[in-house]
Amino acid sequence: MKRDFLSLTDVTAAELERLVYFACALKRRQQRGEVAELLRGKTLALLFQKPSLRTRASFEVGMHQLGGFTTYFHHQDVGLGVREPLKDLGRVLSRYYSAIVMRTFAHSDLVALARAATVPVINALTDLLHPCQILAALQTLYEHFGRLAGLHVAYVGDGNNVAHSWLLGAATLGLRLTLACPPAYRPQAEVWRQAQALAATSGAVLEIVDDPVQGVKGADAVYTDVWASMGQEAEAEVRRQVFRPYQVNRTLLEAAPSHAVVMHCLPAHRGEEITEEVLEGPRSLVFEEAENRLHAQKALLVFLLAPERMSL
Ligand code: CP
Ligand code: NVA
Repeated sequence: MKRDFLSLTDVTAAELERLVYFACALKRRQQRGEVAELLRGKTLALLFQKPSLRTRASFEVGMHQLGGFTTYFHHQDVGLGVREPLKDLGRVLSRYYSAIVMRTFAHSDLVALARAATVPVINALTDLLHPCQILAALQTLYEHFGRLAGLHVAYVGDGNNVAHSWLLGAATLGLRLTLACPPAYRPQAEVWRQAQALAATSGAVLEIVDDPVQGVKGADAVYTDVWASMGQEAEAEVRRQVFRPYQVNRTLLEAAPSHAVVMHCLPAHRGEEITEEVLEGPRSLVFEEAENRLHAQKALLVFLLAPERMSL
């Protein structure tokens, strides 16, 4: 039975923790210069409808390091949803590839592809979710703090795909997550409901506040993302006005504990959601998180394609 990774809800808390630990182990092996071709002979299709630097690079390099092979498809090359329906694309790619990675707008398109595909499908970002990002963020926090249990993350800004995946990740693992969002830009009710249901089991504490200063109080990590996501470019100016008080800057950080770290999924708009000073400052784990996309997704690929090799 194939497994997809469309959302963090596709894995259990134990599996999510194991992915984080395995990602750290793969990173150490890579740093020691060891070859770990755990996916030799496997193939991966990357199907992207939006731009990408980190996601594409980390999947391509990761698969190479694991001994596998990738093909990148720009949506115009395949006429995504235009030249042929997604259900045909999913079935055809499944005949050539061991797994499919897709970045698209509508989450329902990803789900349609995954339903048709007979191989695992991985969400490389949709308008709704960005689970690979939070996998890397969790690895980064684990490396920095030496634990995940009991951590308090404050997400400041737009209740977008990254915020949604934070909600589901924190809810799965039982973390404390405070979202500070403008009232009209809170996470979607359905994701909030799903996260609350998970929190009832895990003991996670999830909160949404309007005030960013209140939001970062007591937080171990302050996380932010762009105010206008890919596909929302026309709203950028309006959003700049609404989100101005939500900038992660020196003043806001003064309201957080002195040990709090700063994270961002990148690409960043310096001077908007985060200042240059904070992004480049000593509390920033931004580039560690970017690197960990590689290790976290390698762990994910092995988990989906050769789970018996996770102990190697
Ligand atoms: N953070 C992230 O997903 O970056 P890209 O859009 O460059 O892939
Ligand atoms: N929320 C951003 C994340 C980019 C990695 C977007 O969707 O554009």
